[in-house]
Amino acid sequence: MCGIVGYIGRRQAAPLILEGLKKLEYRGYDSFGIATLGSCIEIEKHKGRISEYDGRILLGGTTGIGHTRWATHGIPNDVNAHPHLDCSDRIALVHNGIIENFVELKKALTARGHIFRSETDTEVVVHLIEEEYAKKADLLSSVRSALHHLKGSYALLVIATGSDCLIAARNGSPLVLGIGDNEYFAASDMTPVLEYTERAVFLEDGDIACLTRTAVDIYQDAVPVSRPVELIDWSPEEVKKGGFAHYMLKEIYEQPQAFFNTLRAINKSSLPAFVCQSPSVTLVACGSSYHAGLIFKYLLEESCGIPARVDFGSEFRYFLPPVDGLVIGITQSGETADTLTALREARIHNCRTLAITNVLGSSASRIADATLFMRAGPEISVAATKSFVAQLAVLMQIVDARSEGRFEDILLHAHQAIEEVLLMDLSDAVMQCKGTKSLFYIGRGPFYPVALEGALKMKEISYIHAEGYAAGELKHGPFALLSPETPVIAICMPGETYGVMVSNIKEIKARGAPVIALGSEGDQELPDLVDGFIPLPKTHPFVQVLTSLVVLQILAYRTAVALGRDIDKPRNLAKSVTVE
Ligand code: AGP
Repeated sequence: MCGIVGYIGRRQAAPLILEGLKKLEYRGYDSFGIATLGSCIEIEKHKGRISEYDGRILLGGTTGIGHTRWATHGIPNDVNAHPHLDCSDRIALVHNGIIENFVELKKALTARGHIFRSETDTEVVVHLIEEEYAKKADLLSSVRSALHHLKGSYALLVIATGSDCLIAARNGSPLVLGIGDNEYFAASDMTPVLEYTERAVFLEDGDIACLTRTAVDIYQDAVPVSRPVELIDWSPEEVKKGGFAHYMLKEIYEQPQAFFNTLRAINKSSLPAFVCQSPSVTLVACGSSYHAGLIFKYLLEESCGIPARVDFGSEFRYFLPPVDGLVIGITQSGETADTLTALREARIHNCRTLAITNVLGSSASRIADATLFMRAGPEISVAATKSFVAQLAVLMQIVDARSEGRFEDILLHAHQAIEEVLLMDLSDAVMQCKGTKSLFYIGRGPFYPVALEGALKMKEISYIHAEGYAAGELKHGPFALLSPETPVIAICMPGETYGVMVSNIKEIKARGAPVIALGSEGDQELPDLVDGFIPLPKTHPFVQVLTSLVVLQILAYRTAVALGRDIDKPRNLAKSVTVE
């Protein structure tokens, strides 16, 4: 997945686009590039991070496009970085998505004499445009004709010598326009645009837009269409780090507000009837969002006796389970390809679909029959934290709505317990984790997916191998891996599984592995049993799910900082995976 930014107006395009790309680096950051239009196309592109070139990129022109890359076709290097140019260097293009039929197109274009410079799929598009543009110097119709040859997903921005406009086209990858005062923006999301305008137009699949200095015209192929202007209430301040060392830490600290704001935004009495009356629920999601779905499964089944199943988006679409009724797609970005495809499959099979997402105008919100928006604010760090807690706010509201409101007061005060654990000192646990090569996380009931999520956080930002397990499963094989070098993090909360959890801990200790236990403050038995005890506030199990999660987020964060990792942009990852 990559980030793209375009601009046409009165300002110098290059500095605006470069700053905008920095705000999109969470979408990919192995290389970047920019092209501007003065009397001709000027271009500069590099492997590496934009900040390495601060103040050194001096391109002229008040029209431009830029790209920050997460490589799919072709290794990260200067040549494969976008923008890509046609043979005559008169047209420049950036792209987010995958052109599925690029091999055959490249073969045909090469046969017609086109010279390719990169290994990317994207480059075929600019040569297709070149052929049309040579017939008639009308960039809009040239791009439109070229799109007819493409199969796959794209968000494209194109500029060309001789055309004082910027063309934007969307199919399957997000693209939003910013509507300023006689200046116009195009970007993968609104974060690069917010400091200039809050007025957004979300393009639909199949849209092609022509941005000039005075107007925006949008078409479905050649048919003019109009799209609503929406106001985005995320402030530019929210997008910045606000004095925190990393976006991840800022977003961890924003969790009480994210949970509370989301809870208040979900009006239980106006939930769609098909959400509140479905006899069963299927959830589809990926990564952390999948773990949120698993927690929901436990809470819904235990509180309401309503069966729920949770599928990975990537599995659901190929091994479609016998679903009918309600399918919920949980996706913070609203752009995860595997989850989007699963939602589309569910609709094809006549299921009612609900999207839970954090991004207004996202693809998920356009596919599903209904959408419940989280109010977490922009989440920049690749690791999901506040968005995860906000997803749980939505899901717990649904559980409460289907439980005649018996958890209302508990949920309305949950943010206070989250606030309380933010300041916990985890330095001992960090010392026990940071030197290890392998960690286990265990829990039962809803604390099993909490263990999965804690392990994922540790993996993705500290690069320590960490596995989450249902506590009872460890003895069925993984015990063979236990040693003094494999600490086990056990979530052991009061309740009917407390006793069996204590037994599991004793079995683990008997095999020489150190145990760090998360338990309820005042627990008299655990602290003497384990090598590290982290006390959580005595609260309702729903709230202990939240507080244990937050503690495991902070443990992963502090461990990764101690190891000097790149917290907000971990290696090999991207914030939203818009490819399969
Ligand atoms: C979580 O920290 C990861 N960033 C990743 O697992 C993420 O949850 C997953 O890619 C799903 O993203 P989505 O919620 O935007 O669909």
